[in-house]
Amino acid sequence: MMNQRFLLSSPTVSLIIIIDLLSTFLCSNVILGQQLILIQLPGFKNRLISQRVFSVNDFGAKGDGCTNDTEAFRSAWDVACALPFRSRIVVPAGNKYLIGPIDFAGPCRSKIAFKISGTIVAPKDPDVWHGSNRRRWLYFHGVKHLTLEGGGVINGMGEEWWARSCKINITNPCRHAPTAITFHKCKDLKVRNLMMQNSQQMHMAFTNCIRVTASHLEVIAPTTSPNTDGIHISASTKVEIKSAIITTGDDCISIVSNSSKLRIRDITCTAGHGISIGSLGKYNSQDQVYDVRVEGAFLSNTDNGLRIKTWQGGSGFARKISFRDVIMENVSNPIIIDQYYCDSLFPCPNQTLAVKVDNISFKNIQGTSATEEAIRFACSESSPCEEIHLEDIKLFLSSGGITSAFCWEARGFSSGPVYPPPCFSCSESFIKEKSLSGNVLHSASR
Ligand SMILES: *[C@@H]1O[C@H](CO)[C@@H](O)[C@H](O)[C@H]1NC(C)=O
Ligand SMILES: *[C@@H]1O[C@H](CO)[C@@H](O)[C@H](O)[C@H]1NC(C)=O
Ligand SMILES: *[C@@H]1O[C@H](CO)[C@@H](O)[C@H](O)[C@H]1NC(C)=O
Ligand SMILES: *[C@@H]1O[C@H](CO)[C@@H](O)[C@H](O)[C@H]1NC(C)=O
Ligand SMILES: *[C@@H]1O[C@H](CO)[C@@H](O)[C@H](O)[C@H]1NC(C)=O
Ligand SMILES: *[C@@H]1O[C@H](CO)[C@@H](O)[C@H](O)[C@H]1NC(C)=O
Repeated sequence: MMNQRFLLSSPTVSLIIIIDLLSTFLCSNVILGQQLILIQLPGFKNRLISQRVFSVNDFGAKGDGCTNDTEAFRSAWDVACALPFRSRIVVPAGNKYLIGPIDFAGPCRSKIAFKISGTIVAPKDPDVWHGSNRRRWLYFHGVKHLTLEGGGVINGMGEEWWARSCKINITNPCRHAPTAITFHKCKDLKVRNLMMQNSQQMHMAFTNCIRVTASHLEVIAPTTSPNTDGIHISASTKVEIKSAIITTGDDCISIVSNSSKLRIRDITCTAGHGISIGSLGKYNSQDQVYDVRVEGAFLSNTDNGLRIKTWQGGSGFARKISFRDVIMENVSNPIIIDQYYCDSLFPCPNQTLAVKVDNISFKNIQGTSATEEAIRFACSESSPCEEIHLEDIKLFLSSGGITSAFCWEARGFSSGPVYPPPCFSCSESFIKEKSLSGNVLHSASR
C-alpha cells in the first residue's frame, strides 16, 4: 500500500497502474487476439488503444509544425517505457512536429521501437533553451534495446544557432549548441532509415554506448555551418555504422575519447571535414581509441580524407586502426595524421606528452587530392608514430601533376604500389625488424 501511494503521486505512473490492472484483467478474463489497453490522460477522453503500437497523435500531438508537441512526445515515451511488453511509438508521416529539448529516459521495462515517419523540427529560437541543457535537443539516455527508424526527417533548424557561433562571427561568445540526437549510455541500440538536417551543432552522437548499429542514414547541412558533425562516437564500444550519406560543415564521422571495436562501412561524405579520429588528448586528457575499421568509403571535396588528430600534452593511444577501400575525389588532405592539432584562437604551447599513435594501416586508397601534399604524417617528437602501413595507395593531383608525402617522426612501412612515395624514417630498419620477428614467429609455429 505504501508503495502504491508513492506511485500514485505521479500521473504517468498511475496511468501505468491502470494499464497493468487492466492487462491483468484482460489476460485472465477475456480471450482476445490482441491485448487492449485503456489510456487515460488528463485532458483527453479515455481511449481504447490496440496495444503495442500507438501514435504520438493519441497523446495530443498536433503535427502542424507550430503547436508545441513536446508534452505529447514525453507522454508517449513515458507510457511506452513503462509497459511490461514490447511496444512501438509512431510519429506519422505527412505531419511536422515541433519539439523542444526533451529527455527520453530509460531504463524502460521492455523493448521500444520509435518509428519516425513524419518530420520532427526544433524551435528556431535558441532562447527556448533557456534553463535547459544547451548541448541537447533529443536526448535518449540509459535505454536498452531501442530501435529508432521510420524514414522520417529530423530537422534541427540550426540557422540562428550558427549565426550566433563564435566560428561564424568572432565577436560572438563561444557557447555550446545542441547535438540534434544524442544516445547516452544506451545498449543494444539500432538506428536506421532516417534523415537528419541542419542540426544546431552535431547531428547524431553516441556517447558511452555499447552495441550500436546505425544504418541507412542521410545527413545534410550547409558546408558553411559550424561544428555540424554528421555522426559522432564518444566513449562507446561495438558500434557499427553502415550505409550513410553525409554532407555537413564539419566531420562526416568523428570518433573520440575511449572508443573501441568500431566498424564503419559504406560511407559517402560529400563536403565537410572527412572521417576523423580525434581530436584526442585535449586539455591533457587521456584517450584510448583502438580497434577501428573503416571499410568502403567515398569522399568527395572534403577538407580532409582519413584523419587522426591529437593535441599536444595528451596521453593514451590511437591504435589498431585500419582504413581500406576508399575512393577520394578532390580531397584536400587525403591521408593525414596530425599530432599538433590546435583548434584554438591562440597558438598551442609545445608539450612533450602525446597520445601514442601506432599500428595504423591505409590500404587500397585511390583517387585525387586537391593539394599537392596527399599524405601527411606530422607525429610527436617525443612519441613518434609507429607501425604505419601503406598499401596500394594511388593519389594524384586533381588538377593534374605530382603529389608528395610529408613525414615528421613517422615510422612505418609500405607494400604494393604506393603513390605518392612514402617518406617514413627508420622504415628500412623497421622492415628488417618486422620480417625478422615475422620469420621467428613463423619458424616457431612450425
Ligand atoms: C513546450 O512544452 C514543453 C513541455 O510542456 C515546455 O517545457 C516548453 O517550455 C514549451 N516550449 C515553448 C516554447 O512553449
Ligand atoms: C558580428 O557580430 C557583431 C555583434 O553582434 C555585429 O555587429 C557584426 O556585424 C557581425 N559581423 C558579421 C560579419 O556578421
Ligand atoms: C578514458 O579511459 C582512461 C583510462 O580508463 C581514463 O583515465 C580517462 O579518464 C578516460 N577518458 C575519457 C574521456 O573518458
Ligand atoms: C595491428 O592492427 C591489425 C588490425 O588493424 C591487427 O590485426 C594486428 O594484430 C595489429 N598488430 C599488432 C602488432 O598489434
Ligand atoms: C577541388 O577542391 C578545391 C579546394 O577545396 C576547390 O577550390 C576546387 O574548386 C575543387 N575542384 C573541383 C573540380 O571541384
Ligand atoms: C613548437 O615547436 C615548433 C618546432 O620545433 C616551432 O616551430 C614552434 O614555433 C613551437 N611553438 C611554440 C608555441 O613554441
